[in-house]
Amino acid sequence: MSTALVTGGTSGIGLAFCRELAERGNDLVIVARHRARLENVSDELRARHSINVEILAADLSKRAPLRRVADRVADRERPIDLLVNNAGFGMSKSFLKGELADEEAMLDVLCRGVLVLSHAGALSMKDRGRGAIINVSSVAGFAPMGTYAAAKAWCTAFTETLAHELEGSGVSATALCPGFTRTEMHERANVDMSRLPKVMWLEADRLVRDCLDDVKAGKVISIPGAQYKLIAGMAQVAPRGLVRALSGRAASVRRRQE
Ligand SMILES: NC(=O)c1ccc[n+]([C@@H]2O[C@H](COP(=O)([O-])OP(=O)(O)OC[C@H]3O[C@@H](n4cnc5c(N)ncnc54)[C@H](OP(=O)(O)O)[C@@H]3O)[C@@H](O)[C@H]2O)c1
Repeated sequence: MSTALVTGGTSGIGLAFCRELAERGNDLVIVARHRARLENVSDELRARHSINVEILAADLSKRAPLRRVADRVADRERPIDLLVNNAGFGMSKSFLKGELADEEAMLDVLCRGVLVLSHAGALSMKDRGRGAIINVSSVAGFAPMGTYAAAKAWCTAFTETLAHELEGSGVSATALCPGFTRTEMHERANVDMSRLPKVMWLEADRLVRDCLDDVKAGKVISIPGAQYKLIAGMAQVAPRGLVRALSGRAASVRRRQE
């Protein structure tokens, strides 16, 4: 039995991580902004499984709450064995049409939050000689498709660097790169997904189980779904100019809807 800390654990992929890890008998520390939703999830998981659940209400786009969560991650008296940096959100507007403050908040959560919590987690896990970090990135990070994709490209490259630095320490780092997944994210970002073909949708429960298998197998990058493995593979070998042209076309279709 061990303890996992999951950011953004009240909805979508993060909630699927919490449910799967609780099912496997892990204690949990769940982080998100809205306390009522945190309490609902912790009540559900405590009632179904005999595990301890701690909740931390924190806005990870802000430095002081992020520091509080990092201190909890680093706490050597109550060690965290698995850190899942999952909290995040997308944007519906293109870079020049959106608000700069929103872009900065997104970068703070998707990049600075991941950086600060990974630093706290990796140092304390390394001292204990065991542990795992999962950074929820995106398959979007393999293509230049806006600032969200750029932040996810950073997340994947950062996690690969971290995995390299942790080699031989007993601690692993894995970037989970999902494609479109049925969660609250697109509705929250006000993005119309009604025209996405069914075959492109992933289910959060399944991708979480596959990701935990990939962590066990020592994979540094976990891409769920054959369709997205193919897309990510092609984006990495195709000429960059072609990837840019195709990504630009997809982005302009979306911009016409703004
Ligand atoms: N859904 C997809 O298609 C997809 C694809 C690839 C990657 N991803 C990535 O998967 C991760 C999870 O997304 P999801 O699709 O599961 O979204 P979701 O259903 O909207 O859940 C997002 C979670 O993050 C929390 N959160 C958002 N902003 C936060 C902040 N500033 N501070 C702390 N917690 C915050 C939310 O809780 P509160 O609102 O209470 O804070 C919620 O628990 C994200 O990193 C996303 O980029 C999603």
